[in-house]
Amino acid sequence: MSASVSLTDVAQAFPGRERARLALDGITLDIEPGQFVCVVGPSGCGKSTLLDLVAGHTRPARGAVSVDGAAVKGPGLDRVMVFQDHALFPWMSVADNVAFGLKNAGIPEAEREARVAKWLGKVGLTDAASLHPHQLSGGMRQRAALARAFAMKPQVLLMDEPFSALDAPSRDRLHVELQELWADTETTIIFVTHNVREAIALGDRVIVLSSGPGRIIGDVPVALNRPRVVESERVVALAHKVRGLLDEADQLGITTPREGGDSYVSI
Ligand SMILES: Nc1ncnc2c1ncn2[C@@H]1O[C@H](COP(=O)(O)OP(=O)(O)OP(=O)(O)O)[C@@H](O)[C@H]1O
Ligand SMILES: [Mg+2]
Repeated sequence: MSASVSLTDVAQAFPGRERARLALDGITLDIEPGQFVCVVGPSGCGKSTLLDLVAGHTRPARGAVSVDGAAVKGPGLDRVMVFQDHALFPWMSVADNVAFGLKNAGIPEAEREARVAKWLGKVGLTDAASLHPHQLSGGMRQRAALARAFAMKPQVLLMDEPFSALDAPSRDRLHVELQELWADTETTIIFVTHNVREAIALGDRVIVLSSGPGRIIGDVPVALNRPRVVESERVVALAHKVRGLLDEADQLGITTPREGGDSYVSI
């Protein structure tokens, strides 16, 4: 199951010392059901702010956010977030962590158990089901977080730098596994990272944001075969182009909205 996501001329602002400060501006983005979209941009450009808007944790200062054509009015079970910090409950076993959201959603016990077993199997944690988070490696914790998210059968999965605290080998493995899970489920994914290679390795499409207030300076389709890995020559070459867009925006000082779209680059 998957849903489309649309943002139309979205701006977000937060209270500043004297007046509101823009965190995102002029964001118009249409994501097709089942698309895997990565969002890259410098620290503070508004990537997490964008995910929060789609999750319904916040409302935009301007513009509209919708999922499958319906305006986002708040959080919902159709959208699930995965964070950099696994956010597992330390006092619960891996299996109970995965079951927790299902229980809250009112899923009957038999189906709950089936889903927990299925998703722990898919992320390779069947043998770790009764362990607690502190008994897992960092990679295993993120796998548990993935199982917990996918078990909810979200229509849209929102991922905020989920692998950035991991060592490179664990991250590489999870890149491949996530692509497999996505291919299995066809969930729409919005994956935020500031690692350009990671974005190219994972996305069907990479949205490039300028430094804050973030606005879209690039929308790069990635048509390489999957599963992709960050070291692949083609990934590296495309990442180089995207980094070029970011450097160029930096040099041009693109941090404020411009009319006429001259700061919007499509390659
Ligand atoms: N709740 C908030 N209150 C006030 N300012 C906020 C709030 N959330 C975000 N901001 C500001 O909005 C801007 C964008 O923040 P955001 O966390 O979305 O950036 P980011 O791209 O996710 O950065 P990073 O890569 O470091 O995670 C920043 O200037 C931040 O200080
Ligand atoms: Mg962030």
